[in-house]
Amino acid sequence: MRFQERVVMVTGGARGIGLAIAQRFAREGAAVAVCDKDGEGARRAAEELAGVQSASRAYALDVRSTDGVQAAVDAITRDYGRIDVLVNNAGITIPGPVVDFAEVDWDLMVDVNLKGVFRCAQRVARVMVAQGSGRIINISSESGKTGKPLFALYAATKFGVIGFTQGLAMELAPHGITVNAVCPGIVRTEMWTQLDKDLARLQGSREGEALELRRKSIPLGRLQEPADVAGVVAFLASEDAGYMTGQSVNVTGGREVH
Ligand SMILES: NC(=O)c1ccc[n+]([C@@H]2O[C@H](COP(=O)([O-])OP(=O)(O)OC[C@H]3O[C@@H](n4cnc5c(N)ncnc54)[C@H](O)[C@@H]3O)[C@@H](O)[C@H]2O)c1
Repeated sequence: MRFQERVVMVTGGARGIGLAIAQRFAREGAAVAVCDKDGEGARRAAEELAGVQSASRAYALDVRSTDGVQAAVDAITRDYGRIDVLVNNAGITIPGPVVDFAEVDWDLMVDVNLKGVFRCAQRVARVMVAQGSGRIINISSESGKTGKPLFALYAATKFGVIGFTQGLAMELAPHGITVNAVCPGIVRTEMWTQLDKDLARLQGSREGEALELRRKSIPLGRLQEPADVAGVVAFLASEDAGYMTGQSVNVTGGREVH
């Protein structure tokens, strides 16, 4: 039980990678604050976790709202007295060619993927600085390391998360807080179910083709499961990773090596 008595805040924790992260921390003894804009989904997730870790709770949180982030951080610190780990996982992908891309979609991706990470990190960092300890883990992407066609704007947000991670790591190091990023590859979640449909429409391919093409490009030969990401996030939050900060760790089955 590596995380007994620890309090972990996970954004976008209602499903997919965020849910797997919440489950992993709960199994290892942490009280998990499951935050999601889908408040009902967060409640269901926290209820499920309660069977493993009774102290887990749900918080309705849209990371696009600065006031909402502050209110959630206040509620979590009121309920638990501290936040030991923040996992900035909430994120969205809107694929499309740059020449046709709608500015409103770009604004939305920046608001969630980049400003959402900033808002949560800023408010939680204030709590962690007062504690003199903490771990912040930002979910970037392989698209945060290499830009690819139809994902240029998503990549811009995920590259941004890596730069933010590095700068924040340097600022918070004197306070005993580490900040790292995790870069997943092709993970089987609802995000990819939707992406596969979007790519079929954009590329005139049949449904399933985009995902199959990518599966073939994975050196380890299988699509990634959310639990593959959760294991690395748990490692970064553990004592074993205490000397790591400012890093962006690929978890891509070998698709990304830089
Ligand atoms: N699935 C992949 O292949 C993949 C690969 C690399 C990186 N990622 C990143 O991992 C993270 C999780 O992805 P996923 O595949 O689990 O996605 P998903 O779409 O399956 O789940 C995302 C969760 O985030 C929540 N969310 C969305 N916008 C939000 C907001 N504004 N405020 C709060 N919650 C919000 C959703 O309600 C949902 O519960 C994202 O940051 C994504 O960019 C995913």
